[in-house]
Amino acid sequence: MTSTGRDFSTIGVIGLGTMGAGIAEVFARNGYQVVGVELTEESLERGRQHVQHSTDRAVKRGKLSEDEQTALVGAITFTTNIADAKDCQLVVEAIVEQLPVKQALFRTLDGIVAPDAILATNTSSLSVTEISTATSRPGRVVGLHFFNPAPVQNLVEIIRTVVTEPDVLDDVAALARSLDKTPVICGDKAGFIANALLFGYLNHAVAMYEAHYASREDIDAAMRFGCGYPMGPLALLDLIGLDTAYEILDTMYKQGRDRLHAPAPILKQMVTAGMLGRKTGRGFYTYE
Ligand code: CAA
Ligand code: NAD
Repeated sequence: MTSTGRDFSTIGVIGLGTMGAGIAEVFARNGYQVVGVELTEESLERGRQHVQHSTDRAVKRGKLSEDEQTALVGAITFTTNIADAKDCQLVVEAIVEQLPVKQALFRTLDGIVAPDAILATNTSSLSVTEISTATSRPGRVVGLHFFNPAPVQNLVEIIRTVVTEPDVLDDVAALARSLDKTPVICGDKAGFIANALLFGYLNHAVAMYEAHYASREDIDAAMRFGCGYPMGPLALLDLIGLDTAYEILDTMYKQGRDRLHAPAPILKQMVTAGMLGRKTGRGFYTYE
């Protein structure tokens, strides 16, 4: 599979958590080979299980045959050795939402992949410019922001910095379209488009819950049945992950100093207590 110039037949995905596993699945489902990298054997197995469960669901719903599922999962090389991504012309990073950790990873990746390869970050709020300066190729670093669940949501935000090369943007937009996603392009400001509009609302819902203004069920029901949202805000935060949501709000607050984004105190308390939402089985709600 070739986009303008670059051979995108094999894509690297670093971090196979809530987002990375879904992103790996999306690429594999659309004919790409994927090198999926995790930190430990345990987290690698969790990532593999995530892809397995998601595709099991598609098989049950008749959206995928068992043979297609086997081929899809087989197109992903699961590894803890980041050097296995060395031949990828595009690597998508989906690790924790912390700038120093991402910068360290981009420094490592910069020394592994070819000089003309593109390094993309799935960051929700961090500065793509600051991530790019950890590399020797800031012009070939972009934001490629998928939405949760990645196999379902059609949007991909492509974030350009002041130095992103135009052919890189073109290639990445073409790649997003090849995944049946709708790309939108925006500048490098915390929250980009969707999160800049969404997270004030989510934070406000947490503050309402914290103040015992209404129950979690009633807050969520109000937005589902009153406004037609597919999920209420507290259930959505559990899907996103409360640690990730906290980091996003904190970054947005530090950049814009808008009280709307000052993380509601209970969010930090829940993160500290290990209540991260669906991924740990407990957040605003409890999961099996
Ligand atoms: N992985 C893969 N597929 C999934 C899935 C998952 N985790 N969850 C649901 N699906 C699929 C189902 O298989 C089903 O597919 P088909 O239609 O092809 O059969 C479809 O999604 C609908 O699923 P369900 O009927 O089980 O459930 P639903 O109708 O309640 O939808 C939902 C579930 C898609 C999560 C829906 O509730 C929804 O869209 N919620 C809002 C999600 C949202 O707002 N996401 C953005 C978060 S912000 C973000 O991502 C940015 C950031 O930086 C934090
Ligand atoms: P997560 O905590 O669910 O998963 C992160 C994974 O990265 C973990 O499995 C961890 O083991 C792995 N990891 C950490 N450091 C690594 C390294 N150096 N090498 C390889 N693997 C490493 O996080 P998430 O929610 O999937 O978020 C990942 C990124 O995607 C963040 O930047 C987040 O802001 C962004 N994002 C999240 C959502 C969401 O709804 N959760 C939506 C869009 C974007």
